[in-house]
Amino acid sequence: MTSATLVPRLRTDLAAAHFSVPGLTGLWGIDADAALRRNQRVPAQRALAVLAAKLGRNEPAATLARLFLLGDAVPRADLDAALPTLGAVGAAELGLVAADGSADVCPLVDLRPYSFIDAHGAGSWWIVSDLGELALGHPLGETHVLGIGGASRTLSGLMMPTAVERALDIGTGCGIQAMHASRHAEQVVATDISVRALELAALNAELNEIDNIEFRFGSLFEPVAGERFDHIISNPPFVITPRAEGVPSYEYRDGGMVGDALVEAVVRGAADHLTPGGVVQLLGNWEYHDETDAFERLERWLTPGALDAWIIEREVQTPGEYAETWIRDGGTRPGPDFDRLYNAWLNDFEARGVGRVGFGYLLLRLPDAASTLGAAPGLRRLERLPDALGHNPAGLGAHLAECLAAHDWQAATDDARLLRTNLTVASDVTEERHYWPGQSDPTLMTLHQGSGFGRSVPLDTALAGLVGACDGDLAVGAIIGALAQLLDADEPALAAELLPKVRALLVDGFLTFPDPV
Ligand SMILES: C[S@@+](CC[C@H](N)C(=O)[O-])C[C@H]1O[C@@H](n2cnc3c(N)ncnc32)[C@H](O)[C@@H]1O
Repeated sequence: MTSATLVPRLRTDLAAAHFSVPGLTGLWGIDADAALRRNQRVPAQRALAVLAAKLGRNEPAATLARLFLLGDAVPRADLDAALPTLGAVGAAELGLVAADGSADVCPLVDLRPYSFIDAHGAGSWWIVSDLGELALGHPLGETHVLGIGGASRTLSGLMMPTAVERALDIGTGCGIQAMHASRHAEQVVATDISVRALELAALNAELNEIDNIEFRFGSLFEPVAGERFDHIISNPPFVITPRAEGVPSYEYRDGGMVGDALVEAVVRGAADHLTPGGVVQLLGNWEYHDETDAFERLERWLTPGALDAWIIEREVQTPGEYAETWIRDGGTRPGPDFDRLYNAWLNDFEARGVGRVGFGYLLLRLPDAASTLGAAPGLRRLERLPDALGHNPAGLGAHLAECLAAHDWQAATDDARLLRTNLTVASDVTEERHYWPGQSDPTLMTLHQGSGFGRSVPLDTALAGLVGACDGDLAVGAIIGALAQLLDADEPALAAELLPKVRALLVDGFLTFPDPV
């Protein structure tokens, strides 16, 4: 039978089994869920055994979870019951299980439900990937196709939901970013250098009835030579790996280049593949060489003047911390082999003068000369935000899009027009005041952003007064005029002091500008 016949059967059976994120939590409880996130399956195995003993049978979702999440072999009869229209034979034909005629079947892939909320609402999919370390019981192979990990969720949460015609996902793996992009792009191209990744990604798209993704084989921008996209996303294999004998090179996390050259290649290549106004969003690592700030290197990667850039560094690691993270990620435990790899990483960093490694988010945009806002000065923002983010249940993508729009609007708006504009405080903004005991005037005032990047901004009396009056009814100029009277200040001087702060609050999403009519 063809996959066109088998995949709908699989879909029907998974839905009928309630093989969903809440369904699994309902089977084994939140503690087992948490243990699985720590890569421990024993609590889930025990909970399922207790449930089977209590019910006197195996629930279909429990059979599927044991097989595809926990990596246990299950009786063929149980799988036939759990997948009544596909059957164990169909699952074997799809490459999901090894059914060699024995009484038990073994998993060949990881298949699990995945749920999310984005700007379009809540959704859930089933995702097939290669079996993880927990199921395999040994380190991953170098051609492993990754399921949905922390980095995948970070990038999908960052993805701007702006409706576009064409999107590109470089290094699609199991296809997760392309699938998310399919929700706001009419057409998506997804690429990878792994044939197996492309096969699994295509299976995931079909299983979840997503039909606007085209899968192409090839490295970085090669499969899309001469083409341009409105939105490029990539969770590239950015992990810095020593090029030394005996150091494994995992396709899913390491593009085979030296240092951070792969991230540099994506950054440098982006301008030729974006439409005017088009955006590329990626995750990356970058090296701090000798005494040089990594942001200086990042600046050099950006073709001078060609791309707008907003780069956010979230974390910096020492060479030792970095080596430990990625050696553990590869499944190697402390011991002689761990030490050998540790030395290889430190040798590589030492030889190339790397003192630190940064991790973060990159958002680059090809300026649009034809924009209705005119030729606004470009965006070049490289910042360090190591702290906790705000509360963003639907991800940060919409916030990023709003901040970009606010940047463009304020850059195209001169001070005279800004003074005539009615601004509004964003709904997630709160003000915190501290007082010396017995005093009626605050000694410290801070504005807090509840969502987005969870930024905080110190306030002085004038700025606090201005922000407090921004309810959309009064123009900025009128508020400054009233404040000048109240504070006995020179109005033009107060405006000159406050307007740059107002612009900064707009760009960061504390204040919002009126929709253009
Ligand atoms: C970190 S995984 C990301 C998978 C998925 N996009 C996600 O977000 O979970 C990186 C992917 O890039 C692929 N890859 C490695 N080198 C590549 C290259 N030179 N060009 C395109 N893809 C590459 C790997 O096979 C892997 O599937």
